[in-house]
Formats: sequence, structure tokens, C-alpha cells
Amino acid sequence: MTTRLPPLPHHLARPAARAAARLAALTPAPPAWAAFAPGRVNLIGEHTDYNLGLVLPFAIDLACVALAAPLPKGQGTHWALASDDLGRADLVDPTTFIEPDPASRGHWSAYVRGVLRHFQDLHAALPHGIAVAFASSVPLGAGLSSSASLEAAAATLLESIAGITLDPRAKANACRNAEHDFAGVPCGIMDQTVSVMARAGHALLIDCRDESTRHVPMPPPDLASILVINTRVKHALADGAYAERRQACRRAAQRLGLQDLRAAEAAAQNTAESGGPLAFLERRRTALDPDAYRAAHHVIAENLRVADAARALAQGDLVTLGRLMNQSHDSLRDDFRVSCTELDTAVDAARDCPGVLGARMTGGGFGGCAIALLQPHAATHAPEAIKARFLDAFGSPCETFTVHASDGARSFDPSSVPALPG
Ligand code: GLA
Repeated sequence: MTTRLPPLPHHLARPAARAAARLAALTPAPPAWAAFAPGRVNLIGEHTDYNLGLVLPFAIDLACVALAAPLPKGQGTHWALASDDLGRADLVDPTTFIEPDPASRGHWSAYVRGVLRHFQDLHAALPHGIAVAFASSVPLGAGLSSSASLEAAAATLLESIAGITLDPRAKANACRNAEHDFAGVPCGIMDQTVSVMARAGHALLIDCRDESTRHVPMPPPDLASILVINTRVKHALADGAYAERRQACRRAAQRLGLQDLRAAEAAAQNTAESGGPLAFLERRRTALDPDAYRAAHHVIAENLRVADAARALAQGDLVTLGRLMNQSHDSLRDDFRVSCTELDTAVDAARDCPGVLGARMTGGGFGGCAIALLQPHAATHAPEAIKARFLDAFGSPCETFTVHASDGARSFDPSSVPALPG
């Protein structure tokens, strides 16, 4: 018995139509397989994932859509990968093992190649001669996990084509490995996990030590909403600085005699000293260089904030959640130093609006997006006030939009993709 796939979600009609148009340029066959995977915002828990800490992201209603169909007979055995918005197309030979190629690390298809390699390693039955088209409504390079959504969309599409279902954690790890090995980005596990495992109307509390997850209900729209403020800037130092922060965290853990910074919690409990992990760190402050100390201070305090925030969210205590979001931003700005003037301005402007309960940068930092927790009465005036202040400060506009907690990656019925006009 075949299970019926759900139809394309309404909010993805546009990227699906764009992917369908791109697919039609490769093959006359209609889409035979279809999948999507969402981007994310992170409510709180920044730069904690690769320290095996806690994060609390949710999947947003912007996603990458992937469609596939057989190539016409006689047109070769390759996989033709194309995208509506990501850049030039690529051809992959599925009959040999795909290897990372340092020369094409920056190209979008490196992420897809990495995921394909995972399916090759599983000896998945993948037919030859396939056209695959991607289109995304996640703004690219804006810190909303456009890459994780591409990887997770590719993985979900490949599950469908190969007729297998991966364990969600294994799937998230395969996507993360593609990013590490094929794209050369040393990210943590947060983005891929939430893109794969999110549930509509919920945030996802992820304990990155054992990758266990818990769905925490988000407030209904009549109580609060999340506004994204896209600064549209990405500072050049972003990639190198991410790796540098990872190193500072590793250095701090080593000097503290810990496997990783998350282990500060257990270490603090196991000593005869009083106080929690922050007191544990404080007593050893002189053993650390200033950068390592600041990094450790942010990560240890942020883990405590995530636990508190998840509790507050579960109890509907949005005032506490907003306060913790503010503290998180201040710590990322002052201790971890991954914010920038544009993000700080967006956050300050949001905080000054009546009805905004909290605001912070979201994602890796050095540009990209901030988020604000809004009471309903702020929804009309806050976006305009933030945009005016940003324009005044930088002479260029920021973009604002509301996001809704959405489902993670899914296959959907390929026949539900709107027919192409004409
Ligand atoms: C990027 C990475 C994530 C995470 C965040 C910071 O989004 O992809 O793994 O480390 O930065 O919290």
C-alpha cells in the first residue's frame, strides 16, 4: 500500500513554481519527486551548539523546495542539478563516489554533492539520469540557514527517490557533514536538526550533547509574534571569525580541564566549591587568556539562559523570555563579540518600541538578521519605527517580516506543484 503524500504547503507555492520552471528547462517529464526543508530563526542559544550546549530555534515559513524528474532517455546517466536562484548548474556522475572538491567549495551544489555522497555510502538505490531543481524563499546568506535548508531539502528528496527513510538525527548529521566536508563550513548541528525535526507551532529545544530534542509550544499569534529584521549586511570577516570563536571555546575548555564547555555544568557540581558553572569559571579566570575567558563566559551563561527560556516559553512567561533574549544579545555583543553596528542598531531600535518584549541577533552574527518578540499591539508600529531608525543610521533600508513556527523537512505530492502557465 502506498501512503499518500501531503500536498505542497500553500506558503511554498512561489518557490515551488520557480523550481518547476527550472525543472522544465531540463526535462519534459513532470516532477516525480518533491520535498522542502525550512530555514530557521534561533530564539536563544547562540554559539552553544558546537560547545555541546542548548539551543532553542524554530523552523520558519520560508524554505528550499527541491523537485526531481527523470531525464529523457538517451540523455546520459548523470544527475543534472539546477537552481532558480543559487547560481550556475552542475552535473554529477552518480556512478562514481562523489568526493569533496576544494575548488568548488563556495558553490551551492557542494552542499548537495555532500548529501548525495551520504546516500552513496548507504548504497541507496538511486536511478541514473535525473534532473533536480531547487528554489528557495529563504534569503541567502542572511543567517536564516539557507544552506541547512538546501541540504535538508536535498536529503529529503533523495529519501523519496531512493525509497528509504533516514533516522532524523542521522539525517541532520549527514547534512552537517556535507557542510563540513564539501562546503568547508565548520558549523554546529543546530540548523540541520531544526530544519529536519521542527514541528509547526513549536520551537525545538536541542541538547547538542546527545542531540535529544523537545518540542516547546510557541505562543499563539494573538499573544505574541516574532519579527525578523534583516540588516542585509554580511561582514567579510564572518567565516574566519566563526572558526576563531570555535578555537577560543576549545582553548577555554582545555585550560579549564574540560572536554567541552558544556562540561562546566557537571564539573561545577562535582567540586566541593559552591556556586554553579559561572562561579566555577570565575575561580579559574586567571588560567585563561582574555578571549578564551570571554568566550567561555558567554557560552556557559547562554546555556543557563536557554534552559530558563525554554521553561519560560513552556509556561507562557513571555516577559522572562524577552528579558533572556536581551541578555543573550548583550552577551554576544560584549563577551562573544559577534554582533556588529547594524545588528546592534536594529536591536536597540526594536527594544525602544512599546510592546517589544526582547530583541537579539540570531544566527552566527557579523550581519544577517535580528529578531524581536512582539506583543500584538506592537505589530503595526514597531516594523516602521525600526526601519526608519535603521535607514536614518545607515542610509540603506533593512527589511522586516514576521515568521511563523513551521514544520520541518517533508516530501510532498509532486502533482500538487502548480502547473506552469502556458
Ligand atoms: C551558524 C551555525 C550554527 C551555529 C550558529 C551560532 O548558524 O551554522 O551551527 O553555530 O551559527 O549559534
